[in-house]
Amino acid sequence: MTYINYDTNYYNFKEIISNILNVDNLEKIHNIENYDLFTKGTDQSTIWHKLYYNNLDKFTPLYENFIYEVIRPIFGEEIVYQKIPTFRTQLVNNLGVFEFHKDKTYKHNQNEINFYLPFTDAYETNTIWVESEEDKGDYKPMNVLYGQVVMWNGCHLTHGNKQNTTQNTRVSSDFRVIPLSKYKENDGASIYTKMKFIVGDYYNVTK
Ligand SMILES: [Fe+2]
Repeated sequence: MTYINYDTNYYNFKEIISNILNVDNLEKIHNIENYDLFTKGTDQSTIWHKLYYNNLDKFTPLYENFIYEVIRPIFGEEIVYQKIPTFRTQLVNNLGVFEFHKDKTYKHNQNEINFYLPFTDAYETNTIWVESEEDKGDYKPMNVLYGQVVMWNGCHLTHGNKQNTTQNTRVSSDFRVIPLSKYKENDGASIYTKMKFIVGDYYNVTK
């Protein structure tokens, strides 16, 4: 797991996401609209998700800069990257994702590398819990400050959420990258968007 710091003055994701959701404080959106405990099929169904996915034109230009300027240099080659980062909210008393899993269970490419990009500080029970080695089961919270992006292996490490017992909602995005030399077409598709795991659909490629 690698933590990368970036400049929030330039990559002002928090301001952009707050603007898209039309709120002053992302940590407190549960006071505006909260939901019953998420289950399969409801963890991407809030008003907050709709606002994000309906306003991608406000988010994508900066995300693309971030991919080219912060993420691509890590790899030293062109990269295949998730075109639309997945949006998550972990509201107070709720989950961000409904179950513990490995991304490979959902037919994700086995060479994928995950990036976790929170727009709020993410800690304790409002963040992702992940094991340290595949099938070790020693789950710990991924504590991340706004201004950090975490590179980690969600394809092979089991991860999930606990019910958020903190006072703050976590708002985050996550995306997946494959070094171009390790990219292979695959017949899987996103369970949420149904986009196929291929360049041109789920992924773009840098150039
Ligand atoms: Fe996952």
